[in-house]
Amino acid sequence: MIIHQFSSQQELNEAGAGIIAALVQTKPDAVLGLATGSTPIGIYEELVKAYKKGRVSFKSVSTYNLDEYVGLPVDHPESYHSYMNQHLFSHIDAAPERIRIPNGNAADLKEECASYNRELEGVKQVDLQILGLGHNGHIGFNEPADSLQNGTHLVELDHKTREANARFFPSIDDVPTHALTMGVGTILKAKMLLLVVRGADKAEILHRALTGPITTQCPASLLQTHPNLVVLLDAEAGRLFQ
Ligand code: F6R
Repeated sequence: MIIHQFSSQQELNEAGAGIIAALVQTKPDAVLGLATGSTPIGIYEELVKAYKKGRVSFKSVSTYNLDEYVGLPVDHPESYHSYMNQHLFSHIDAAPERIRIPNGNAADLKEECASYNRELEGVKQVDLQILGLGHNGHIGFNEPADSLQNGTHLVELDHKTREANARFFPSIDDVPTHALTMGVGTILKAKMLLLVVRGADKAEILHRALTGPITTQCPASLLQTHPNLVVLLDAEAGRLFQ
């Protein structure tokens, strides 16, 4: 595990974008695993800048998003489809046919998960998976539990997760109760994991995830088992490592 701590958000964003851009420059048809939430927004902004300056092209990459809410229309401003268009896809040259986000409105959610899994198995390995960290230690929407699932599946969101995400909705009652998420097995299969964590409110869970026992009650603790985990932190999130 390599941990990089940054004293400014800008430096962190540039470092994160630099790692992704360098991968795509050396492997134009790289497979990227993408995350949503507040954490990666600044990194996506830097990637868009790099694209606009002609430093990197995404025309041959394939992307797989970690998760999507169930039952939010695709064009709802808080759907992860909307998020990805707003923050990344509408600004770069990624080919729509190689962009994949789970369809939380599929008539048959089980089949949607199975088809996502088949596609990811066909890809063999995601080259780089971006991850944020939930306050309860979730990665993707793999919530703390007695056991965790391998592949993409339907989850009921924790109250804590819905509370955290209520900031984007008129009230907590408007936050979807379920989501589709890649499983921990799929996440851990990626060649490289880029975990990005910001803010004092994540310091404790981050410290527990990276130094505490490996347990399904803190899904991010399983990241300790990955041979190529890179962690990008701001000083607030890294407070307990000093
Ligand atoms: C998002 C995702 C979630 C978030 C996590 C942190 O696709 O899978 O695990 O990364 O909830 O969210 P933020 O970044 O909003 O604090």
